[in-house]
Amino acid sequence: MRVVLGIESSCDETAAALVREDRTVLAQRIASQDEVHRPYGGVVPEIAARAHAERLAPLIAATLADAGMTLADVDAVAATAGPGLIGGVMVGLVSAKALAMASDKPLIAVNHLEGHALSPRLADASLAYPYLLLLVSGGHCQVLEVQGLGRYRRLATTIDDALGEAFDKTAKILGLGYPGGPAVEKLARDGDAKKVRLPRPLLGSEEPHFSFAGLKSAVMRAKQNQGDYSDADIAASFQQAALDCVIDRTRRAMAAAGDMTALVVAGGVAANQAIRAGLEKLAAEHDLPFVAPPLALCTDNAAMIGWAGMERLMSHDFAPDPLDIAARPRWPL
Ligand code: KG4
Ligand code: ZN
Repeated sequence: MRVVLGIESSCDETAAALVREDRTVLAQRIASQDEVHRPYGGVVPEIAARAHAERLAPLIAATLADAGMTLADVDAVAATAGPGLIGGVMVGLVSAKALAMASDKPLIAVNHLEGHALSPRLADASLAYPYLLLLVSGGHCQVLEVQGLGRYRRLATTIDDALGEAFDKTAKILGLGYPGGPAVEKLARDGDAKKVRLPRPLLGSEEPHFSFAGLKSAVMRAKQNQGDYSDADIAASFQQAALDCVIDRTRRAMAAAGDMTALVVAGGVAANQAIRAGLEKLAAEHDLPFVAPPLALCTDNAAMIGWAGMERLMSHDFAPDPLDIAARPRWPL
């Protein structure tokens, strides 16, 4: 069976994984840079790139060792080639080029968003195309028809902030530090979602898109004018408002989409239990299966990049990417 080495370095996770065509993840390692960026309250691109450059090679070596393999056992090298912080993307992509060249194996340049989009298929072999995907991460908030490998139709995107960004900014306003999403979710459990009145931007709009900037500003005002409510109430009210928007916008997209096999969520915010539960209910209303990858596959990881590479490698018209392919800071699916 074929094996792909996947490499991810587009944000603040340095990651490598070995993925087999039967969907077994033979080994994977992730070095998080949370500690590196925490003092700055967010990811500093230059520092991220340097950390990737220091960590990636030993991480790949350790991942191969974990699986008892060498490069000779690998059938292709796949790396994120964008979108993302360009310094980090270049570290991963150039490393992949060097490994591919040295071992005479095909190079596969993967779109990070495609990695997220196909990650549910790594976790669930029965998930068939076409499915409706809500992709919610720190940089993106989109609804896509995933019609097949390389065939994506975008139905909605955000006109300002991404959903994860709204979580991160709320965390910053509440002094919860970085990274913010999980901290907001945790604090929200102790709060009352009805205590703070917050807007639901674009709720019910005929436009298909998302918007979270107004919600974030309202959270800021709620914190500044702190009334008879706690920070936990703000977190809970924010999460509920964000969830209401997500459900409304996804419902609108479902009406516009063709026949889909499932409603699927992916990306870092898919780790949020409230968001998962809301989407599961929405899918049930439409008699659609709901698929959410395990938490470790939701946030950035290299297994999803290896799997996207594997889907490419297994496709009938596979062609390796050229060694001069460029890293791309922006790369719409
Ligand atoms: O997919 P990801 O790891 O990186 C990007 O490609 O952006 O997503 C990271 C984002 C961050 O904004 C983080 O705060 C958010 O996902 N996130 C969460 C949770 N876990 C991660 N947001 C809400 N609740 C969570 N449990
Ligand atoms: Zn991501």
